[in-house]
Parts: sequence; structure tokens; C-alpha cells
Amino acid sequence: MLTVNNVSKSYGKLSVLKDINIEFKNGVYGLLAPNGAGKTTLIKMLTTLLFPDEGEILYDGIDILAMGDEYRDILGYLPQEFGYYKNYSPRRFLHYLSALKGIERKKSKEKIEELLKLVGLENVGDKKMRKFSGGMIQRVGIAQAMLNNPKILILDEPTAGLDPKERVRFRNLLAELSRERIVILSTHIVSDIESIANEIIMIKEGRILYKDTLKNICNILDGMVYETEIDFDQVSNFRKEYFSLSEKQKDEKMKIRFISEENLDNSWDSVHPSIEDVFLYVYKDEVIKEE
Ligand SMILES: Nc1ncnc2c1ncn2[C@@H]1O[C@H](COP(=O)(O)OP(=O)(O)OP(=O)(O)O)[C@@H](O)[C@H]1O
Ligand SMILES: [Mg+2]
Repeated sequence: MLTVNNVSKSYGKLSVLKDINIEFKNGVYGLLAPNGAGKTTLIKMLTTLLFPDEGEILYDGIDILAMGDEYRDILGYLPQEFGYYKNYSPRRFLHYLSALKGIERKKSKEKIEELLKLVGLENVGDKKMRKFSGGMIQRVGIAQAMLNNPKILILDEPTAGLDPKERVRFRNLLAELSRERIVILSTHIVSDIESIANEIIMIKEGRILYKDTLKNICNILDGMVYETEIDFDQVSNFRKEYFSLSEKQKDEKMKIRFISEENLDNSWDSVHPSIEDVFLYVYKDEVIKEE
């Protein structure tokens, strides 16, 4: 078990994380927060690339900083900016990294073949990565993070730049990988987290706002999300009255999805809240809606 105890982190005067407490057991955890919320900062502390100003991070009760190489042996990490050599093939690149990680040649050979298969790159194992798609590179990134068969796998924004097909593939791969390890991934893309994470961790103003299942987090807005159709000239008044989640033109009307604490009009349809609704509502002062 990985435990974050009362961790705080600042960059100079900028306090990014304040008194964070989290327990990670086996399964997939999604760190979901807007840009700049401190996801990478937390991840860098979990990977010992940054040190907490206050608090500690323990693995099975031992401070990860005191574990040193022993901790790195059980850690797999895909950084947000993953550096690779364009002129290398995945097979060559993975052999190179195994050597750097001090993995025995005989062991690594077998492992690399297994991983290339796992991430679906066995047919391009000897092709230069120069021509790879974002999704293929990201699979190389996951393979390199898995070289030491880590007990803790940490992926910083692994779904950025994936097309829908690659996303499905990634989801299935993660489900496979998470059976016997802790997987922690960060994203600011709401739709990615829905079917991937067992638990979602939302950070706001440097603190953990929620750590719960998707279902429980969505329940926060239970009975508060509605849809209705209104005339165009009513839209701006409606927005003043209610928090608008989405708006879609439909025939001569505007279909609007919004938040209200009460059902004030029987033409409103009560709908199930989605994680996207929660995200927009929770970060309403920080998130600029992307169309
Ligand atoms: N080395 C640094 N020095 C100073 N400020 C930093 C440094 N690294 C990050 N920050 C600031 O700390 C805050 C949190 O950054 P962080 O990279 O952890 O956010 P994030 O949630 O990973 O964002 P993104 O979604 O853009 O990756 C931001 O305001 C960022 O500008
Ligand atoms: Mg980041």
C-alpha cells in the first residue's frame, strides 16, 4: 500500500498542494483536475523526483525516500513528456532502457518480447519510431514503464493525443495491467477517466476534493441536473439564473443542460449527472469550456 501523509508542496511562494492525504491499494486511480492543479507535482513526489516540503509518502509503512533503489525497483513511470529516440526501434529502445535500469540481459529479452505483444507492437518491433502515431509512442512509453514488472505504475497524462480507437485499446490494456498493482494516472480529459478508473481523485485549490468511485462522485449532483428546450432569446437570461453545463441547437430551439437545486418547471427533464457535469460544476471558476 502506498500512503501519502499530510503532504504539502510549494514552488517559492506558490503553494500547489496542501496537506494531501491519500491511500492507494491495487487498482486504477484517476487523478482528475484542470491544467495547473498540481497533478504532475503530486506524481513527481510519488516517483521521488520531487520532495514534499511537509509530510511523507510511505510504501508498506516505509518512507519511499529512505527506500532508494528498492523503491525504484518496484516503480514504473511514464512522464508527461516522454523522451524517446526517433531513430530507434521499440525493441532496441527497450533493450537500451533495460540496460540502464540494470535488468539482466537474459531476463530483459524475454520481458521485452512479452511487453511488445502486450502493447500490440510486436509487428513493428524493429521499425524506427520516427513514423509512429501518438498512440504507438504512448504504448512504447507504457512498455518501458512495465520493464521491471512494477508494483506501482504511474502514468502522467497517458491519454493525451490518442484517437478514439487508441483510447479503447489503452483502456483494455490498463484493465489488464491493474489486476495486481497500483496504477495511478492523471488526466484533465474527463471522458478518459469514466471507464478506466476504479477511483477518481479530484484536486481543487491544492486539496483533495473527492476520492471516490465514479458513481458516488456523480451522485453529488443527484437530482440537480436537468435538460430543457428554450427559445434562443431566453438563453442569456437562463444562463444568469442557472449554471449551464451544455447547450445544443435543436431545430428552432436551444437544448440546454443545466444545474438547479429544485425542479421548478415541469417541462424540465431530470437527467443522470455525468462526471463531466461534476467537473464543470466543481471547477466552474477555473475551467474555460472547450467546445
Ligand atoms: N518547477 C516549477 N517551478 C515553479 N512553478 C511550477 C513548477 N512546476 C509547476 N509549477 C506550477 O505549479 C502549478 C502546478 O503545476 P503541475 O505541473 O503540477 O500541474 P498539472 O496539474 O500537472 O497541470 P497540467 O494539466 O498542465 O499538466 C502550476 O501553477 C505550475 O505553473
Ligand atoms: Mg501535468
